[in-house]
Amino acid sequence: MNKVFLNLGRQPLANSFLKDIKKKTIRNEFFYNLKICFNTKNYLVSIINPVNPKKQYTDKYAHRASESKTMRLAFKKISKKLLKRFRPKKIMEIGSNDGIFLKNFNKKSVIAVEPCKNLARITKKLFKTYDKFWNLKLSNRLIKEKKGEIDLIFSANTISHIPNLKETFTGIHNILSEEGVLVIEDPSLIKVFENNSYDQFYDEHVYVFSSISINNIVKKFGLRLFDVEHLTTHGGSNRYYICKEKGKYKKSSRLKKAMKKEISYKLHKIETYLKFSKRVNLSKKKLYDLLIRLKEKDKKIISYGATYKSTTVFNYCKLNSKIIDYVTDTTLNKQGKYTPGTHIKIISPEQGMNDSVDFAFLGAWNFKKEIFKKERRFLKKGGGFITHVPQVKIIKNK
Ligand code: TMP
Repeated sequence: MNKVFLNLGRQPLANSFLKDIKKKTIRNEFFYNLKICFNTKNYLVSIINPVNPKKQYTDKYAHRASESKTMRLAFKKISKKLLKRFRPKKIMEIGSNDGIFLKNFNKKSVIAVEPCKNLARITKKLFKTYDKFWNLKLSNRLIKEKKGEIDLIFSANTISHIPNLKETFTGIHNILSEEGVLVIEDPSLIKVFENNSYDQFYDEHVYVFSSISINNIVKKFGLRLFDVEHLTTHGGSNRYYICKEKGKYKKSSRLKKAMKKEISYKLHKIETYLKFSKRVNLSKKKLYDLLIRLKEKDKKIISYGATYKSTTVFNYCKLNSKIIDYVTDTTLNKQGKYTPGTHIKIISPEQGMNDSVDFAFLGAWNFKKEIFKKERRFLKKGGGFITHVPQVKIIKNK
């Protein structure tokens, strides 16, 4: 049974940066209610009424995975590791973005699936790419085209974006070879709880998985979870290793340990979720109060990184351009635009990180290390970063 435990209010699409803030543009902005529920039977955490993916994954999709050095290195590392561990002959990626992962393999052995046509266009030049949503129909098409029997299916930050889990996993089962492996990476629920990072909830994250929920879900579709790895990417993710029910892989000791930890954290109990919801409410109040107090002291506050996560924070905490002067972001196609719902201008860091800034809210808190290194001068000169993860605080040079 699904029980709603968190209401993050009226939200725009996290990725829908506005070209201008003319009346007509604002009138046409799409909003939905972001409510999160917990399934008391299979322990799955999901958005109660997800947005139609056709609205989200269009040919204007802004996120280019290759723009982050951290991510480029992470994908290079994992591709090497997977080749060594499973020696796959045929590899497919669901949600291949700009090819950041598949680029690391022999072009002839890979298939890319990417519904955003602007991204699929990039990888079509490199290897076989289907600019389609992943579903049962596409898996049947691959079989017809003799592209089934895949040894390794990889999907990072995509499976949690697809509302229909039945289509997703039935399609995967359909084309996975008998000893094939499905590897998926998605944000980790226990990390969201430990970090109080409620901003992991936005329209694209239909699900935030845990080992115990993935274990229950894949079982229903003839698959079996046999291993898990904890990652630091995206503020704490899990990499799940899944095979067919009768596959040769044994349940790893680190999976047993992870599931045990989740149970002792009580991720299978609704009470844990209700307590989390209270913490989130408190975090909103604390952040808002802190920013208002600084504003009353005439401090200039900006935000660092126009992230999808900060769309949730800004809209939930009602932060607008009266509080945050502007947002800086390195992504060229975000610069010059406005944040979804809250309409704060986005500019380049070169333009925005100057001596007039007193505080910068860490929208990209998951890149904190990289950012602090880059912004040593800002910290040295007395600037402060503000974060809400794991709790609301100001970070300054000691
Ligand atoms: P993500 O967390 O959704 O991947 O988004 C990170 C965003 O933060 C992306 O738009 C790039 C931006 N960013 C900066 O502007 N400066 C930085 O130093 C880093 C690491 C990221």
